Amino acid sequence: MQQDYREVVITGATGGLGSDVIAQLQRFEPASELGVSVRAPEKAEALSVAGVRVRCGDFNEPASLDHAFQGARRVLLISTRTPGNAARFREQRNAIDAAIRCGVEHIFYTSIVQRPGSVFDVAAGHHATEAYLASCGAAYTVLRNGQYIENLPTFLGQSLFAGDLALPLDGPTASVSRVDLAEGIARLLLGDAPLPESVLLTGPEAIDFAGVADIASRALRRTITRRTISSGEFSAALTERGFPPSLAQSLATGFASRAAGELAETDPALQLLLGRPLRRVADVLPELLAHATSLAPARVAS
Ligand SMILES: NC(=O)c1ccc[n+]([C@@H]2O[C@H](COP(=O)([O-])OP(=O)(O)OC[C@H]3O[C@@H](n4cnc5c(N)ncnc54)[C@H](OP(=O)(O)O)[C@@H]3O)[C@@H](O)[C@H]2O)c1
Repeated sequence: MQQDYREVVITGATGGLGSDVIAQLQRFEPASELGVSVRAPEKAEALSVAGVRVRCGDFNEPASLDHAFQGARRVLLISTRTPGNAARFREQRNAIDAAIRCGVEHIFYTSIVQRPGSVFDVAAGHHATEAYLASCGAAYTVLRNGQYIENLPTFLGQSLFAGDLALPLDGPTASVSRVDLAEGIARLLLGDAPLPESVLLTGPEAIDFAGVADIASRALRRTITRRTISSGEFSAALTERGFPPSLAQSLATGFASRAAGELAETDPALQLLLGRPLRRVADVLPELLAHATSLAPARVAS
C-alpha cells in the first residue's frame, strides 16, 4: 500500500490551464484524492486550504518531483513555456522520469495540435517530449490541445480601441474554450474508459482573425478591421511593446502555422467527453472583451 495515495496529481496548477483543470477536478473528486505539484506553493494556498495536497515541484529539480508525485495514480504534466526546445524538452523529460520512478500508472502530457514538421517554432520541443513518452514504456496520453479562446483578447490588443487589427496572414483555427478543455481533461484524468495514446481536443469550429474581428465588432458595437502585415512588421511591433525578440518571433511562427492550415482541424472528441455542445468563440469572446474593455483607462475606452 503506497503512502499518501492520490488519484491525480497535476503540475502547473498555478498557471492558466492548470488552475482551470484543478478547479474542474475539484467538482468531480474529493480534494483528499487530489494533489498539485507547483513551483510556488504559496500561490496555491487556497487549494491547500480546500484539502488538495500541495507540494513543491520544479521540472529542473528532479528530487522535488519525486516528492510531489509520490503516491499518485495518474499525473498530468503541463508543458512549460521555457524558451528553447532543448531546454523545454529537458524539463519535461525530468518530469516524465520522475513520474515513472514514482510508479505512476498513467502520464498525461499537454501538447499541441500541430504535427511533426510544423512551422511553429516551439513544436519540436513538444514532439521530442511525445517521442520520449512513447519510448519509455509508461502508459501515456498526449493531449493535443487547441488554441485557447481566452488568449484572443491579447491578440486583439489595441484594435479593441483603435479599430485596426494588424496581424500576419493567418488561417482557420479551431480555438477552444480553456474551461471546456479543462473539463475534458479532468474527465479523462478521472475516467474509467480505456485511454488513447493521443487525443485531439479542439473547439467546434475553425475561424480566422477576420472572423474574430467580426465577432469583436458586434460585441463592442464598433468596427474592427482586419489588416494583414508581414511577419517582420508584426515581430518588430511586439518587440517595440517590450516583448522579448525570441517570443515575438515565436508568435510570428504561430501565425505561419495558422496560415498553413495546421490548426484548422476540428475533432468531436472534446464534445463527446463533455456530453454537451462546446462553447464557441462567439459565446466566450464577448464576455472576455467586456472584462478587457472595462479595465481600460476611460480616455482610451471612450
Ligand atoms: N493551447 C494554447 O493556446 C496554448 C497557449 C499558450 C501555451 N500553451 C502551452 O500549454 C501550456 C499551458 O498553458 P498555460 O496557458 O496554462 O501556460 P502558463 O499559464 O504559462 O502555465 C504554465 C505552467 O507551467 C509551470 N512551469 C513552468 N516552468 C516550470 C518548471 N520548470 N517546473 C514546474 N512547473 C513549471 C508554470 O509554473 P508557475 O505557475 O510557477 O509559473 C505554470 O503553472 C504552456 O506552458 C504551453 O506549453 C498552449
